[in-house]
Amino acid sequence: MKKIITDRPDKIHAETIIVGGGVVGCAIAYELASRGQDVLLVDRSAIAGGTSCAAAGMLAADSEDFAHPLMAKLARQSRQLLHEQQVLMATLSDVEVGLQRHGFLTPFRSYSELSSYKNNRKSALSADEVWWDRSVVQQEAPWLNRDTYGAYYRPYESEILPVHLTKAYAESAQVLGARVMEDIQDIRVQANEHGVQGITTSIGEMRCKHVIIAAGLQSEELMRHVNLSLPVWSVKGEIAAVQFADEHAGYRPDRTVYAEDIYIVPKANGEVWLGATSLPGRTDLNVSVQGVQKLLTAATHWVPGMKEAQFLRAWAGVRPATPDGLPYIGACKSIPGLFAAFGHYRNGILLSAITGRLIAELLAGKSSEELGIEALSPERLNRKGVVQ
Ligand code: GLY
Repeated sequence: MKKIITDRPDKIHAETIIVGGGVVGCAIAYELASRGQDVLLVDRSAIAGGTSCAAAGMLAADSEDFAHPLMAKLARQSRQLLHEQQVLMATLSDVEVGLQRHGFLTPFRSYSELSSYKNNRKSALSADEVWWDRSVVQQEAPWLNRDTYGAYYRPYESEILPVHLTKAYAESAQVLGARVMEDIQDIRVQANEHGVQGITTSIGEMRCKHVIIAAGLQSEELMRHVNLSLPVWSVKGEIAAVQFADEHAGYRPDRTVYAEDIYIVPKANGEVWLGATSLPGRTDLNVSVQGVQKLLTAATHWVPGMKEAQFLRAWAGVRPATPDGLPYIGACKSIPGLFAAFGHYRNGILLSAITGRLIAELLAGKSSEELGIEALSPERLNRKGVVQ
């Protein structure tokens, strides 16, 4: 990653400063830079060093069960936008994002499991999905458990390497003129009665017109510095990687399995990722035996040949959840110039592209109402900020 820290801190100025080098912050940087804007992204550690490096990278717009119709709509728009962006980014950056557009399968053990799935689903099934009965499953996915009752095939789902995507956004943004600064500590937003003035950091002040907070779980604290209360809760997830030797290649799934109890994601780098546990309130990155056992048990049920795979590693990340399940995307009306783009919970990778586009449109003068995203307004929970 190219680092540009040439200016003396007291001279650093940008039109827009983005705080947070995860996939959302980098997608915003890319979108703004591609519109010719003067953008600086700062991160307290490294690009893709947090939650983005712990994701499975599924663009599961149809498979995820979004409670809010706006989220389902944005997810589909974002998946499409991301497909388009990666073509452009391939001309700007050498990072290979590993996009695979093979569609996803959601399998069921029995008719009653299928019925309860349909009854419990909050969002409408997409018109694009195709029902595969047992015989079609056996023919199209011979690696799947032969007792499977049937499966939905969702042809437009895709997946990507999450760290690579984040780096591709950051590098492409830099090629387009954005600056990126890593290892910047003690970041605080500076604001007065006129609104945002910039940020202070361990290496000095940086001045700007707009600050965008896209720092995942750290965002709550950054907002608290300017007396805004935008709660974010942690939901830890554990994920494991396996790989199949050549002699067992026939057992390897050739598309993602998105079951109720597990997702199994064959990645472009040859690995197969198994995710993820869900542990609310946990912020540590330890991986438990129980967690891995749960993943492997579910994975070997759906893909019996998984028993032959080689276990590679397991890791953990912490998803940033909000009280109402919606991300904060928009202007903080009580502090002119301050914007929020965090709280994407399970869907930061999927929603990164559309978040970048929405923030860019807001900066270009569009309102949340015009964009149809009032439901994501950062101050919707009525915790208005008071600038001191
Ligand atoms: N995106 C799926 C998960 O967070 O587990």
